[in-house]
Formats: sequence, C-alpha cells, structure tokens
Amino acid sequence: MPLVPMKQILDEAIKGNYGVGAFNVNNMEQIQGIMRAAKEVSSPVIIQASRGALKYTNMFYIKHMAAAAVEDNPELPIALHLDHGNSLETCKQAIALGFTSVMIDGSLKEDSKTPTTFEENVEITKMVVEYAHKFGVTVEGELGTLGGIEDGVGSGKVKLTDPDEAARFIKITGVDALALAIGTSHGAYKFKAQPVLAMDIISDVQAKAPNTPLVMHGSSSVPEELIEIINQYGGKLEHTMGVPIESIQQAIKLGVRKINVDTDGRLAMTGAIRKFFAENPKEFDPRTFFGAARQAVYEVVKGKMIAFGSLGHAGDYKPLTIKEAERFYK
Ligand code: G3H
Ligand code: 13P
Ligand code: ZN
Repeated sequence: MPLVPMKQILDEAIKGNYGVGAFNVNNMEQIQGIMRAAKEVSSPVIIQASRGALKYTNMFYIKHMAAAAVEDNPELPIALHLDHGNSLETCKQAIALGFTSVMIDGSLKEDSKTPTTFEENVEITKMVVEYAHKFGVTVEGELGTLGGIEDGVGSGKVKLTDPDEAARFIKITGVDALALAIGTSHGAYKFKAQPVLAMDIISDVQAKAPNTPLVMHGSSSVPEELIEIINQYGGKLEHTMGVPIESIQQAIKLGVRKINVDTDGRLAMTGAIRKFFAENPKEFDPRTFFGAARQAVYEVVKGKMIAFGSLGHAGDYKPLTIKEAERFYK
C-alpha cells in the first residue's frame, strides 16, 4: 500500500481510543528500527522529518527511504509527515516530495522563535490547509507555545493553549489535527522534578472539538536508564526528567492521538554507539555500531507502540490513498 494520509491514521485512532507515535527520522537506521517495531507489533506508524532532517538528508533520501519502508511493509499504514513546517513554501516542498501530512507551526513566526498572534497563526494555517487539502494532504496546526512548567508556574515563552481559542482555531482554519501546549517542551532537559502537565486543556479542547485528533509534542520520557548508559560510557548528560509514560497514557485517554518522540530515539542511539565502542575499541565497520543503534531505536519504539496502545491496530482498516483523501476534501 502507498503512504497513507495521516488524517486517516489519527481518525482511526479516535475510533479505537489509542495513540499513535510519530517518530522523528534522519537516517536509514532510525527508519528501519521504527519499521521493525511497527511490523512486530502490527502498529500503524507516523514517520516524521523536521526541516533539519530534510536538510541533513538532502530531502530526496527521506522520500526514498520512506518509499522503501512502504515497499518493505505493505501491510502497515505508514504516514510521512513534515514536523514543524515554518512556512507555506516549506509545506509545498514537502507535499511536492510526496509527504502525506504537513505541520504548519503557525504558533511561531517563520524564524521558528518569535511567537505569533492568534490572527497571524490563523492566516498562515488557513493558507497551508487550502493548499494541502487540494492534494489530499493532512495538516497539523499548533496553538500555544511549548515550554516547561514546574509547580504550575510557566517559564520563558510558554503559552499554554486556550481551549476556547483552540475550538475557534480548528473551526476557522479547517486543520485536521491540532498540537496543544500543555507544559511539555522539546529536548532532553524538560523537567527537574515530576512534571505537572495541564491535562485539563486536553479534556476541554476535546469537549469543544471532539472530532479533531490532538497532538502532544515534546513527549519523550527521557528514561533514566538511557541517560545512565550514555554517562557510563563517557557521556556527560545532566540528570533530567521527561514526560512519564503514565502521563502520556492519561493524555491519550483524554483525546491525544499523535505523540511526538524524537529525543528518546536520539538518546537510545547515542547510548548504544558509546557502549559499542567502549566494548569494541578495535571495531570500525559502520554496520556494527549503526546496527547497535538501530537495535536500540527498535527497542525504544516498540515499547512506546505497546504503551500508546497502537499495537495490533495496523489491520483494522483499509488505508486510503492520497487521491481518495483529495476527493474527501472536495
Ligand atoms: O521538534 C523538534 C524535533 O525534535 C526535531 O528536531 O529540528 O533538530 O531535527 P531537529
Ligand atoms: P521530544 O524532544 O520530547 O522527543 O519531542 C519531539 C517533538 O515534539 C518533535 O516535534
Ligand atoms: Zn515538536
């Protein structure tokens, strides 16, 4: 089956009441590790590439590696998604490459740093939706800006999502999925202590827009054992806390359907490679250490597919083609 529109994967997750992991990829080993996990537990899967990933892989490699994943796993629903698109141009580029889903992160300006107003966010998101839907491509928007909250106190540029605004935003823009800011942040250094996430935002938005799948960014759990492996073999990462799996499971119960994970895959690969070289100082065949990294990605991703509840759901539905999605939007 060809790449599937992400909207279908998320709509089906609503019906089945589970979450689907969206895993960031930059190379073949990450894709293979993720696909092996998806195959083993029979899970739908979203592979996503950031602008940095597109640049690193020279774009065409991502496109063809995703095609290889599809060819190798014809029985699995796989979506290829642009993570944090910053402009209509970037989204157009991804659509031209064959991505079946794009995120326009209109919560920030094109520099991906400066927060926008609600109106600016609506304007850019609407433009992307109008363009993408003509090709049957799914659009994820974002309202609110990510950041950490500890003891309920916001920091830096955090702007948690306002549920009323979210409902209006979904209605005006026509986005297929919406990323909420509930207190998570990107990267390894999320929290110093057990996080307090604004779960009520999820239930409030869900109540106001029950048919829109919600997205949780910054969802890596930053497991202590991965940090320990890295540090045991020469790394110098600070001790830190991510989003506990139980919080993600609670978020899924409340309406989150897409869970973005990048950092945990990075940590797993780094730990595996450091350990490999420490134990095999004479080795220099890239297949050995990249193989260890691929195995580590597989293990982390498999655990998440089981925890998010997407296991066993790959065969639940007949995947739509992008052409069929195009007709749906018309
Ligand atoms: O949203 C952030 C993702 O972790 C992607 O990170 O831009 O370094 O590829 P990146
Ligand atoms: P993490 O840094 O927590 O893995 O989040 C990734 C993400 O949200 C990508 O969009
Ligand atoms: Zn993100």
